[in-house]
Amino acid sequence: MEIYPMQDYGPAMKGMLIGGLGIFHVFLAQFAIGGGFLMAYFQFLYQTDRLKSGRSFTDEYFRILVLISFVIGALTGVGMWFTSIQISPRTIGVMVQEFHWIWAIEWTYFCLEIASGYLFYRYGPRLGNGLRLQLLIVYALAAWFSLFYINGILSWQLTPGDWLEKHTVWSGFFNPTFFPSLIMRTVTSLATSALVACLVINLSHYEPAVKRELIQKATNLLLPLALLLPTGVWFFSVIPEDSREWVMGGSIAMTLFMTLGLVCSLLIAAYAFVVLKWQKLTLNAGTATLLLSLAFLATAGAEFVREGVRKPYTIREYLYCNSLRQDELSRLRQTGLQNVDPYPVREKFEKHGEILTHGAKVFRFQCSICHTRNGANGLASLTQTWTDEQIRLNVAQLQRTKAFMPPFAGNARDVEALTQYLRYLRNPQTFEVSADSGRADVLARINHWLEDVGTTPGIELAKQH
Ligand code: HEC
Repeated sequence: MEIYPMQDYGPAMKGMLIGGLGIFHVFLAQFAIGGGFLMAYFQFLYQTDRLKSGRSFTDEYFRILVLISFVIGALTGVGMWFTSIQISPRTIGVMVQEFHWIWAIEWTYFCLEIASGYLFYRYGPRLGNGLRLQLLIVYALAAWFSLFYINGILSWQLTPGDWLEKHTVWSGFFNPTFFPSLIMRTVTSLATSALVACLVINLSHYEPAVKRELIQKATNLLLPLALLLPTGVWFFSVIPEDSREWVMGGSIAMTLFMTLGLVCSLLIAAYAFVVLKWQKLTLNAGTATLLLSLAFLATAGAEFVREGVRKPYTIREYLYCNSLRQDELSRLRQTGLQNVDPYPVREKFEKHGEILTHGAKVFRFQCSICHTRNGANGLASLTQTWTDEQIRLNVAQLQRTKAFMPPFAGNARDVEALTQYLRYLRNPQTFEVSADSGRADVLARINHWLEDVGTTPGIELAKQH
């Protein structure tokens, strides 16, 4: 079992750090992908005499695309690696180990995307039409293929499918959610690029008639949104049953985010079909900004759900969020956590240092990926009103307390140390160790609770009842 030093971000929840950055990155990356297709489409319309301003607009749009997606997109992309390596090194380790050739291919496409994009930026305005179109098609396809490859790895985390038995690259890559997520992401990319284009067109110097024409063409890329609903249904029909139940009301946060994503997407689609295509109205800068914000919210909702429904795993049925595998977790029940985490604790305890240091390590090792002490999803307030016995029971039977938590990995002494640490967090100044702490009958009771629930994941327990 690999033990990495844990980072401590105080009141910020680690999952939210990755998620927050991830949402920005995904949104920008999808803009870059859709943008490639939009420019190739406009250049094509220009060459076939269907859009006079197609060529000049493509150049203008590309400058914005470069500025936003190359610079901020690349920075947040590196930022994603940086944060996820800090927060969940083991998950990233497995992802790299299992799919290193996929990553290599993905990065090759990314390089091609950057190279062709840069060439277009530098020489595009001077090139002949044929070459321009070719360059734009190379750019668009390279960007899309980097999505194709990364999508295989991200969807594998939620639905590893046959990979759990076969452990081959392609069995993990072409997993049950591969195609529905690829289609949903492609459709979203096109829609995002169309909305950005509408904004850019509105702010540009073209005559009103030209603007209208450009907008009519750009909004064609909103039409694939019609696929979102059927592919969404496809996606939800192949994800695990418990994940589906959380989205359908089992976890209120996930249901809300799901609804947010769905409503925002439907509003954009409805606007595109009714107002833009049927009524043939145009789109002003304000509305384009509003729709773009809705698209951002839809992306945020969808990404939150995708990350959320994977709990308690980062790689479903393979690696728990706290970086433990099932066999390691079961072994820790026997051996206990004492001496497992070799890194020092930075907190200074005035009294009861031994048990509190132990408890702080248990917290850091098993809970800190999803909880903070006093901040977001903070354990001090979640356990505020609990008696000692309630804490002991709920920690020992963690997966029964909430099915999206992993089973507790450790023995009765570890539960007891964590219990005292949680009590300490509520009131550090006046803390005293419970009078009955460490007594044989207390430890026996905790042991009984641990054995009663076993190490079966909560989502499995729920099915048995
Ligand atoms: C995979 C992420 C994850 C891990 C790991 C995790 N939890 Fe949780 N826990 C949650 C979520 C999500 C909630 C729900 C929070 C809410 O309802 O507001 C929760 C809720 C709780 C609650 C409140 C339960 C209730 O019924 O009100 C307690 C107490 C708790 N966790 C303790 C722990 C402890 C102790 C650990 C470590 C041994 C831990 N959790 C590990 C995700 C996790």
